[in-house]
Amino acid sequence: MKHAEINLSRYRKEFPFTKKVTFLKHASFGPLPQRSWKATQEYYNYLKVEKTDDIDKDAFHKLDEIRILLAKMIHAKPAEIAFITNTTYGLNIAAWGLDLKPGDKILLPDVEFPANVYPWTNLRQKGIKVEFIPSKDGFFDMDNFVKAIDQNTKVLALSSVQFFNGYKNDLKTIGNICAEKDIFFVVDAIQGIGAVDLDVREHQIDLLSCGGEKWLLSSLGTGFFYLSSRAKRKVNLSFFSWLSVDWKLNFTDVMKFDLQPFPSARRFELGTYPYSLLWTMHSSLELLSEIGIKTIEKHNLGLLDVLIDGLREKGYRITSSLEDDRRSSILSFSGKDIKNLYQKLLKNNILVSLREGSIRVSPHFYNTPEEIERLLEFL
Ligand SMILES: Cc1ncc(COP(=O)(O)O)c(C=O)c1O
Repeated sequence: MKHAEINLSRYRKEFPFTKKVTFLKHASFGPLPQRSWKATQEYYNYLKVEKTDDIDKDAFHKLDEIRILLAKMIHAKPAEIAFITNTTYGLNIAAWGLDLKPGDKILLPDVEFPANVYPWTNLRQKGIKVEFIPSKDGFFDMDNFVKAIDQNTKVLALSSVQFFNGYKNDLKTIGNICAEKDIFFVVDAIQGIGAVDLDVREHQIDLLSCGGEKWLLSSLGTGFFYLSSRAKRKVNLSFFSWLSVDWKLNFTDVMKFDLQPFPSARRFELGTYPYSLLWTMHSSLELLSEIGIKTIEKHNLGLLDVLIDGLREKGYRITSSLEDDRRSSILSFSGKDIKNLYQKLLKNNILVSLREGSIRVSPHFYNTPEEIERLLEFL
């Protein structure tokens, strides 16, 4: 078992439900740590209930801190990070902002979550082609990707980690191919960030989009996107807002109508922020960075090692890749009566997901080997 030192007794206190429930479905929705819930309540008390003060410059300072935490997590610069409300929104920024012409081609793996499909197929109305890259055994296939590229190919959009089997794509190789062929490289990273280390610079990613509600243990309605300051293809602003321009936080003199957009990714942010949700996110990000993503990744792989051993012993079929570099914090398996097994687990307070005919197990840093053993007892 890969072992990573995490002070479990300290961190499990952040998740009191663990006394009753074995929660192994972070690939669906992550829970809120206690400290993040407290931070949200403090926000409401301070600004909405007690009415101590109005939103002021401190709030913008907090947003800057979140951008710094997110940038560190993906090895980017804070100026390359902007807030969005979900993954889909960030993907649409690319879909509508890139200067694509009729006949241009977008490539998508044929095993994407629909969030990374409809923003692209919607462009067919403009005469833009969308082609699906055939997968092999549910995994992205590099040869089929290379075969699908032609001179009209302008965009590749894929998930860093595949949602139903946890396949961790070889972003480095894919990014290299995209850079060589001048293909704009878009990554849907919601199934990775927070539990899998990712380096946007090393992987030459042009735009990355990620919702906060899964591995980032943040509220629904939070998310961020990264736009590389070195991206060769320009992403135009399809929407524009009073917060897209540099108004110097001057609340007393806002009626200036000729300000320039921020040079940073912030220019894509639209209107007033969901502060309460971002307060939650701030606390959760602090917690994740206190432990470290590489440590979290190692811990989760160690937990899934226990699961793999048990599944093999009991004769279940593992539907995830077991190649070291292609593994993530998600592991799926199938077998006889899988739907009944899923129901049995639910009834016994072991929360996993059922996806595409497999049970999907997705533990996070506060889960223990004993919890995995508990699941195995029901197989
Ligand atoms: C790979 C992937 N992308 C996106 C989403 C969700 O997209 P959005 O944040 O836009 O709702 C999911 C949700 O399960 C997902 O698994």
